[in-house]
Amino acid sequence: MTTTVIDIHDVSKRYDEGPPALTGLSLDVAEGEALAVLGPSGSGKSTLLNMIAGLDRPTEGTVTVAGTRVDVLDETASARYRRSRIGMVFQFFNLLNDLTVLDNVLLPAQLLGTPRAEARQRAGQLLDGLGIARHAGAYPGRLSGGERQRVAVARALVNRPALLLADEPTGALDTASGADVRRLLADLNADGQTIVLVTHDLALAASCATRTIELVDGRIARDERTAAR
Ligand SMILES: Nc1ncnc2c1ncn2[C@@H]1O[C@H](COP(=O)(O)OP(=O)(O)OP(=O)(O)O)[C@@H](O)[C@H]1O
Ligand SMILES: [Mg+2]
Repeated sequence: MTTTVIDIHDVSKRYDEGPPALTGLSLDVAEGEALAVLGPSGSGKSTLLNMIAGLDRPTEGTVTVAGTRVDVLDETASARYRRSRIGMVFQFFNLLNDLTVLDNVLLPAQLLGTPRAEARQRAGQLLDGLGIARHAGAYPGRLSGGERQRVAVARALVNRPALLLADEPTGALDTASGADVRRLLADLNADGQTIVLVTHDLALAASCATRTIELVDGRIARDERTAAR
């Protein structure tokens, strides 16, 4: 039986000005999928990601993630939802530069109230698995872009999220680091992690997505199983 992680039903998003950012969009994402969201600038990709993360609310429709109605949460519940169910990776890493690598990774676990020993064990495993254990005591400013993005991925995974969201995770990386991060995301998905990533990087979609959708004017214009691996 497949488990639904994301259930978006008939979602529209209108702002005061301009055409709607999303129009009657429905989307189901099953556990274990790696979904790449493509589409031209302004097509609604970040808006869609923000709906899934509970960072913005639809004007109409419902958003359910891992059994939680995300579109009706108040601010506190929404923050708790992100902390416990979602890991996020951004183009520019968003690490805290005055915390060590290890403390950056531990932070979401501390915010969730995970016992320190358990959090340290999980963080250690992640840093090991991502090949950056030797940098645990370093500050992010000393790391390369690719290494920083690995730290960001470790931080995103420390609370074992049902869903990993990524917005242009290779957008700020050189070719070699981009390839590393692509491989990393593909490996995570092969181990069962459900992923939704927004990208202009066709190589990223090709190498790690099991499914690709393309947004045009806030609607799904294409929806393909890509089964990259
Ligand atoms: N806060 C806002 N207020 C008004 N309009 C907005 C707001 N946020 C987004 N929009 C509009 O919604 C549409 C979709 O924007 P969105 O950021 O989702 O596009 P995108 O596909 O992520 O583009 P890009 O590839 O450039 O990041 C755009 O027309 C944008 O101008
Ligand atoms: Mg965007």
